[in-house]
Parts: sequence; structure tokens; C-alpha cells
Amino acid sequence: MQQPSFTTDWFSHNIPTWEQVISPHLRSLPSPKVLEVGAFEGRSSVWLLQNFPALRLTVIDPWAFTNDASEDTFKRFKNNVAPYSERVSVMKGKSQLMRSLPDREFDLVYIDGEHTSAAVIHDAVLGFELLKVGGLMIFDDYQGGDKTVMYPKPAVDFFHQAYGALNRLELISDSYQRIYRKTDGIAPPQY
Ligand SMILES: C[S@@+](CC[C@H](N)C(=O)[O-])C[C@H]1O[C@@H](n2cnc3c(N)ncnc32)[C@H](O)[C@@H]1O
Repeated sequence: MQQPSFTTDWFSHNIPTWEQVISPHLRSLPSPKVLEVGAFEGRSSVWLLQNFPALRLTVIDPWAFTNDASEDTFKRFKNNVAPYSERVSVMKGKSQLMRSLPDREFDLVYIDGEHTSAAVIHDAVLGFELLKVGGLMIFDDYQGGDKTVMYPKPAVDFFHQAYGALNRLELISDSYQRIYRKTDGIAPPQY
């Protein structure tokens, strides 16, 4: 089998946390369904596909940078996931494509697309509806970003406050990434 090939590594530093927090969840399911928003060259995608042979992965990414490398990146992604292609569904476009997916379909949603706070809150709100109760949601770069424009933290903090107030989530890992479990929640007040 051809080895995957990458030019950039935004993922490997997360593996210890994923092994501790994500792996037990995915192993407890016969055929876990995962949605990844922002796949780039597929480094995190390949890790999931390699480690969980029954896992089915949906990825959303426009693969449309303004430089000439975008088509190369998409080609590299496709080559990297080719050995698992029957388990991968590729949606080429922005994260708005989440609107076309069924509610409560996924066991894990990984938010790693556009890193502006505005995009992260958009992706969090749409992605949360696609998650099953008991499913996990990962936010990349909670402790990263440039603290100005590319800055997921304010969005994740708002998401935590807004959904936490309705008991709809539980924070299960707080390090470089944040990981939440979706809980049943309480009914919102009636007016
Ligand atoms: C940090 S990379 C993802 C890294 C990948 N998850 C990994 O671990 O190797 C971010 C990706 O988000 C994609 N992206 C940017 N804006 C997006 C949007 N609006 N919707 C979905 N993906 C987006 C970029 O094309 C890029 O491939």
C-alpha cells in the first residue's frame, strides 16, 4: 500500500489526547460515523481511517486556497485516503454544506475548518445538530490562533456558555483542543 504523504503537520500533537478521549468512544461503537470540517491533506482523516476499520468518514473542505497549491492539496488528500475510499464521503465546498446532512447522524464532529471566531461559531451551531446525543465534538486550536482574526477561543467559550446553560453539553477534555460530549439537555423556556 502506498504510504500517505503530507507537507504539513497540524495533527500529530493531538494524538495522545485523541487516544485517551476519542478512541474509547469510537471503539465502543460498531460502525462510528465521523464528520470532519477542514481536512486539508487528510492527516487527521487518515489517522481515523487507519485506527478504526469500521469507521465511516464524511469530510467537508473547499480545498480552495488563493494560491496555486489548492489543487495539489486536494490531489494529495485524495491519494492519502484512496486506500479507504469506500469509507470516505468527500464534500468539496465550505462548511455551509453541513446544512445538507441529516440531524443526529454523527458520533464525532471535528471542527477544524476556517479558524475565525465567526466561522467557528457557525460550524459549532450547525455541527452540533448533526451530532447524536452522546456524541463528541472537537474544536481545534482552542488554545491557539493569532488572538485577533484567526481565533477560535471566543466562539468556543460562547458555545460552551450558550449550550451549557441548557445542559446540552459536558466538557470532557480541556487542553490545546476542547472536546465536548452532547447531552440530552433541558427544554428551553416557553414564552
Ligand atoms: C488546519 S487545516 C485542517 C487540518 C486537518 N484537519 C488535519 O489535521 O490535517 C484547515 C482546513 O480548513 C479548510 N477550510 C477553510 N475554510 C473552510 C470553510 N469555510 N469550510 C470548510 N473548510 C474550510 C481549509 O481548506 C483547510 O484545508
